[in-house]
Amino acid sequence: MNILILGSGGREHALAWAVMQNPKCDRLIVAPGNAGMAQIAECATLDIENGDAVVTFAQQNTIDFVIIGPEAPLTKGVADRLHEAGVNVFGPSAEAAKLEASKFFTKEICDAAGAPTAAYGHFTDADAAKAYIREQGAPIVVKADGLAAGKGVIVAMDEQTALDAIDDMFGGAFGGAGAEVVIEEFMDGEEASYFILCDGTTALPIGTAQDHKRVGDGDTGLNTGGMGAYSPAPVLTDDIAARAMREIIEPTVAEMAKRGTPYQGVLYAGFMIKDGQARLVEYNARFGDPECQVLMMRLGAQALDLMLACAEGRLDEAQVNWANDHAITVVMAANGYPGPYQKGSVIKGLDDLPEDSMNMVFHAATTKVDGEITATGGRVLNITARGDSLQEARDRAYAMIEKIDWAEGFNRSDIGWRAL
Ligand code: AMP
Ligand code: GLY
Repeated sequence: MNILILGSGGREHALAWAVMQNPKCDRLIVAPGNAGMAQIAECATLDIENGDAVVTFAQQNTIDFVIIGPEAPLTKGVADRLHEAGVNVFGPSAEAAKLEASKFFTKEICDAAGAPTAAYGHFTDADAAKAYIREQGAPIVVKADGLAAGKGVIVAMDEQTALDAIDDMFGGAFGGAGAEVVIEEFMDGEEASYFILCDGTTALPIGTAQDHKRVGDGDTGLNTGGMGAYSPAPVLTDDIAARAMREIIEPTVAEMAKRGTPYQGVLYAGFMIKDGQARLVEYNARFGDPECQVLMMRLGAQALDLMLACAEGRLDEAQVNWANDHAITVVMAANGYPGPYQKGSVIKGLDDLPEDSMNMVFHAATTKVDGEITATGGRVLNITARGDSLQEARDRAYAMIEKIDWAEGFNRSDIGWRAL
């Protein structure tokens, strides 16, 4: 079959890598792709947030299956357009993607589903929001309702920080996203992510992972999109995960179906875990980046069969072949990230690295200039490895990094520390 993957990050490179290994894949196109994906697939220029353009492209290239990587095309209804045109697609409708696009929507779904999450208030007026903060006291969490590129959440350890966040949000600091806020109880505990495939009715977990959001070793410095991840996350034990399926995930999927907006795609649940129980922090309507890289490393070719089963409503017949393995990915970023950084530096040494089922360099922001791999973004490479233990996987990943010659880039040296 002919497959189209939308996106250009490390997440999409990992998806492409897994899909390519499946004999069902005859032709793979990625749009727009990057220099890493260009080694295994055709790259196409396409406005991936324009549903009509994606449908036309899919028809012209006789695409049988589209996999949508990032959230922007989902919230813009690209999956809806493909669905209407009769093209099989992995990824939720715009209505269902509101689980990521609106914090208030997710809170309402949790209320209806009885899913454990933080207590909250929802406000469209700054004075009422401030009164609620004064009444509840700190610590407290202030969230802009809509998508804010990961910057719309303020975890306020004191009341003044929370009140200032309200002024910022209603003052337009987050554009339209701040015209509505959700104010939440601060939850204590350890965070972990759970990835669940859904076909609208059936929910099938495919793995746990833990991200490293801060830029510096020891979880210090500014927040980023994620500096590394590993799977599985030992804090999300089988018992806690099974209980979360019963209390959070299955009721959410049932509630979405009941509303006539069934959820199809991957549900990425962020949990706060304490005292043997998970509470929901947030949902995302897509794979995490870089969490997808470790999940794909562990799933390999079966990822395509599972995503197809989602799109075709056959997830009840599907099965995940678990391996007792571990995977890790270490992000290499351009110096300065997440602040201002230079683009265009050349990365050397990649050709000598092994690329197989145990070791992979996924590209997140690269292009080829005069035959050389060149950085084009903040998070640039994801050095990914698998092993029988997390330690073994980690040693492999860091051994690969040693061989990469890129003075203009950096990485955290402690990915996996929590689990080790
Ligand atoms: P979100 O975008 O909702 O995932 O929030 C970003 C981050 O803020 C999360 O990964 C948590 O680290 C933190 N956070 C969000 N909500 C809460 C909460 N209610 N209590 C504690 N931390 C939170
Ligand atoms: N790594 C966090 C995310 O993808 O949202």
